[in-house]
Formats: sequence, structure tokens, C-alpha cells
Amino acid sequence: MIPESFIQEVLARVDIVDLIERYVPLKKGGANYSACCPFHNEKSPSFTVSPTKQFYHCFGCGAHGTAVGFLMEYAGMSFRDAIRELAGQVGMTVPEETGAPTAQERAQTQSLLQVMDTAMNFYRASLKRSPQAIDYFKSRGLTGEIAARFQLGYAPDDWQPLQGAFQRYDDNALLEAGLVIQNDTGRRYDRFRDRVMFPIHDQRGNVIGFGGRVIGAGEPKYLNSPETPLFQKGSELYGLHQARQAIRESGLVVVTEGYMDVVALAQYGFPNAVAALGTATTPVHIQKLMRQAERIVFCFDGDKAGRKAAHRALDASIEQLADDHSIAFLFLPPEHDPDSYVREQGLEAWRRALDGAMPLTEFLMHTLKDDIELTTAEGRARLVHEAKGVVPRIPAPMLRLQMIRQIAQDAGLEVAEVERAFGLKPSGGNGRGKQAPPRLPRAAVLGPVQQMLRLLSTHPDLVGRLPSDALAMLGDTPEATVLQALIDAHDDGSLDSRSLAILYERWRDTPQENVIADLLQASEELAADSEAAPDILEGLLNNLRRGDVERAFDTLQRRLASGDALSADEMQQYKALLLQKQKLKSGQSD
Ligand code: GTP
Ligand code: MN
Repeated sequence: MIPESFIQEVLARVDIVDLIERYVPLKKGGANYSACCPFHNEKSPSFTVSPTKQFYHCFGCGAHGTAVGFLMEYAGMSFRDAIRELAGQVGMTVPEETGAPTAQERAQTQSLLQVMDTAMNFYRASLKRSPQAIDYFKSRGLTGEIAARFQLGYAPDDWQPLQGAFQRYDDNALLEAGLVIQNDTGRRYDRFRDRVMFPIHDQRGNVIGFGGRVIGAGEPKYLNSPETPLFQKGSELYGLHQARQAIRESGLVVVTEGYMDVVALAQYGFPNAVAALGTATTPVHIQKLMRQAERIVFCFDGDKAGRKAAHRALDASIEQLADDHSIAFLFLPPEHDPDSYVREQGLEAWRRALDGAMPLTEFLMHTLKDDIELTTAEGRARLVHEAKGVVPRIPAPMLRLQMIRQIAQDAGLEVAEVERAFGLKPSGGNGRGKQAPPRLPRAAVLGPVQQMLRLLSTHPDLVGRLPSDALAMLGDTPEATVLQALIDAHDDGSLDSRSLAILYERWRDTPQENVIADLLQASEELAADSEAAPDILEGLLNNLRRGDVERAFDTLQRRLASGDALSADEMQQYKALLLQKQKLKSGQSD
């Protein structure tokens, strides 16, 4: 854990405009800066960066956050790395604390990275000297350009080829990096011998592991680096470093099973693929990908193992679902994997296949209904029972509701009945999940608590005027926690325009985060929400119009009531006004 006070210190010193400008060209307009949103495709800019609040917000897609959030979403960094990066930019060093790597551990990491880099370069050089390995890659359709892009190599056919790369073959780092194996008698030999080599990179491009494939037939077909201090298979994805740019540009990432799938897809013009490293897809993988892509398509081999992998990916996805992301599954014909498919059918066919991938909800429904006879009451009851273990785990409120609707339909029940069976509150309520859906501009009536917080955050001077029982009136709510923090900051004189951004980071992944996000966005929307303005205007006009219609209607109605005879024209008008009144009323409901 990085100490809270350090994070505050960093956020108080960085400039979000400086930071974002390195990645996205910003234009100054009024108090804020704007640009075309880097998180979704658009032609006119709706992405704004506020230097005073140190917060960014997109009116188009709802993306928002602090400098930390920007690095996480845009550059795909972890929270820790984002803090470390920002700290570095303002000349601060993340302090040592328990649980954090010590100076010694960092030195070790550094030396392991160096060892891996040296090995990678050695394997690459060896490839150039091995006609047999070159032929193998050529036979699989790869050009030198792609081999260079993925830094492919060859581990020579010998017991200790790395002797040729390192001055000290007995260096402990070689063992720790998983490059050599030591037998009982203390004798060492290379892990990878006579194999073509696929270096595995972390997101920054450091080599952290290798996969080696036999040339032709042989067992094991692939040999992977063991888990080392550098390399944890459950959180790394092969090819992500090379695919990042393409993923960000299109919002799409495809997860495959194998190294060759990733490399072959890139060779054929599809650079958006990554592969899980011979392990099942984990929730960590999915979180990592969701930070960088809006759409994830899993495409495993068409065989039985591939289908099993798909089920595991489905299971790992459930708790990561978000309404603003889509996850789908592409099932290839049994004889194919993505590599053979793109080679045989070509890029266009591959893209079409991806477009037709099965949405996660559909795959989930198939899985749930598998083996169930829906024509019987028992079968329908079993469907609800099976779904109960899965659907309530979906954190995305809209997706969950869609699933519940389908299940209700198949089970011949009402939506509310299924919700009750799942132990869920009836939908329609505010499903403030972990992943809030993007916020839409709105002109709805705000509760007094929300209004008060908005007011206080735009007029911090008013905090001092709160009565002493203000907090107690909010009870035990996230809003109360936020108000307490505002009061504390006011009392110790630290309340300023950056306070909200700092609090936002303090409460990342808690309910308070949503409260703060609302405050930050509200002030931007009030100042600059050109998109919502027409809607707000329309609402106001509607109100005015309704007043007019009502007055005209009332006049005629009073005359009718007092026994006046209305002319035929006036009767027509009376009916028309009645209709208009009803229409305006129903149009008012939102
Ligand atoms: P090619 O035969 O070269 O096209 O490989 P592929 O990517 O189609 O391989 P396959 O579908 O057989 O395996 C998919 C992934 O599982 C590989 O990329 C490896 O990460 C892993 N894998 C395959 N075979 C082995 C093995 O024998 N041992 C280990 N540890 N992993 C393997
Ligand atoms: Mn293959």
C-alpha cells in the first residue's frame, strides 16, 4: 500500500493538463481544455480537462477521472504504477513501506530484466544464424518484419547455448529468471533448447518470460518460462504490448489461446489479438483488458479444449461485466484455430466472423439452458435455480436486467418474481453497482442532499456556515462521509479546487467515489454541457406550453360548467386541447 498522504501529495503537485497533453492534443477554451475524446470515436470534441479541479470528463461517453485514472485508462497502468509514474514526473519517490518492494527487491527485478533482455537478444541473433528456424517461421507464413515486431528468436540445439550470451553462466539471476535449470548434482543446463522462441513482454515492453515451441513435432510442443518474480501467468497476456495501440484505436481486443494465433493474426493485418499464457483466463486479465478496450472477443480453438476454455473465460467475466463494455465469444469450426482460420479464409472473413461473435449474455443463456427441458415445470424451475448462482453476480445493472428478462420469459415468470427468487431488489431502483454506467446529462430534480453537496463543492466558503447538526441529518451514508471530509478540509484550511480530485482517489472503488464523481461532473455540466442544453430547453418549453394549454382549456371548461353553449369550432378546440394536455403530461414523465 502506498500511504494515503503520499498520494495526496502527488495529486497536489501534478498538473493534469500537462499530463494529458503528452498523449492527446488539447485546445484551450475558456477555463478548460478540450479535445476529441481518446476513449471513444468522435468527430467533435466533447472531452474536457479542468486545470482547476484537476479532473477530466467526457460528455460523450462519460469517461472521467483524475491524472491517476487517466494513466490507468489510457496507458493501461495499474494504480500503483500510475502513482509511481506521476510521482516521478514531479520529482517524488514512492516511499518504502511494508509490502512494497524493498530497494534490494527492486535491484533484483532490475537485474532479472537485464538477464531476460540479454537472452532475448541472444535468441534473436541465433535465429538469424539458423536456416532451419527461419524456414520454420517462413513455413508458418511469417515475414521477417513480423518476426522483428514480436522479437522472435531461436534457442540453439545444445545443452548450454546461453553460455554464449552471459559472461557468468553460474549467475544466480539466470536460475531465478527461469532460463536455466539446475539438477541435483548442481549442474546447469538451458531450459530452452532447439526451440523457436516467443518473448513475453509486460505492458512497458520489458521481456518477462518466454514461450518456446519445438520445430516440427515433439513433446512438449510448447515450453513456457516458470513463474518468476517477473512473470505471473495469471496477470500477463501475450502480445498486449504489441497490440496496445491497435486496441486503443479501435476499442477491440481479441483473446486467443496461442502465441501463433497472435502472431499470425498480426501477420495477416489484425494486430488486436492477445493470448492467455497456457492458463485459463483470469478476472485480472479481464480487468486489464477492460481498462483498454470497450469490446472483448474471446476466440478459442474450435476443439473441446477450446470450448472448455470459453466456459472458464465466461465464468471469469461475470463479475467484471460493465454496461459500457461488451464481451463476446467466437466459436470457430472444430478444425480451426484463429491462426489457421485467418490463413485459410483471409482477413475479411475473420473480421466478419468477429462481428458475428456471440454476445456473452447469449452464451450464458445457452450454458444455463444446456440439458434443461423447458417444456416441463421442473425444467423451468431448474433454470431459475441454475441462474441464481450466476446472474446476481453480474454487477452491471442493465446487463443483469436483460438476463433476468430472458430468464423470466423462458421460465414463464414475471421479472419481479425472478428477481425475488434471486434475492434481488426489484429493478427500476437505483442499481448503483461497482461500475457505474456512464452518466447521461439530465435535468432531473435532485434530492436536497445532492443539491447541498453540489452547492458546497462549488462554494466552499459556505462549508463554514453549516449548522452543527448538518452531518447528523445525513445519517450513515456515503454522502455523509463526503460531507465530513469537506468539513475537515475546510476546518484545517486545506479545502481548495483540487480537494475533490484528491478525495476521488482516496475513495477509489468505494461508494463515496460515485458521490465525488457526481460533484465534479455536475460543475462541468453546469458550465459547459452544450449537449444537454437542447434537452433542458425543451423541458422548460414543455412546462411553459403546458401552462398555456391548461389556461385555454380551463376557460372553456368553466364556460361549459356554467351552462354556456359552445360553438362547433369551440367544441373542436376543447377536444384538441384535452388531447394536447394528455400528451404533454405523458411527455413530462421523465
Ligand atoms: P501451433 O501448433 O504452433 O499452431 O500452436 P497453437 O498456438 O495452435 O497451440 P495449441 O492450440 O496446441 O496451444 C495453445 C497454447 O497452449 C500455446 O500457445 C501454449 O501457450 C499452450 N501449450 C500448448 N502446448 C503446450 C504444452 O505442451 N505445454 C505447455 N506448458 N503449454 C502448451
Ligand atoms: Mn495453431
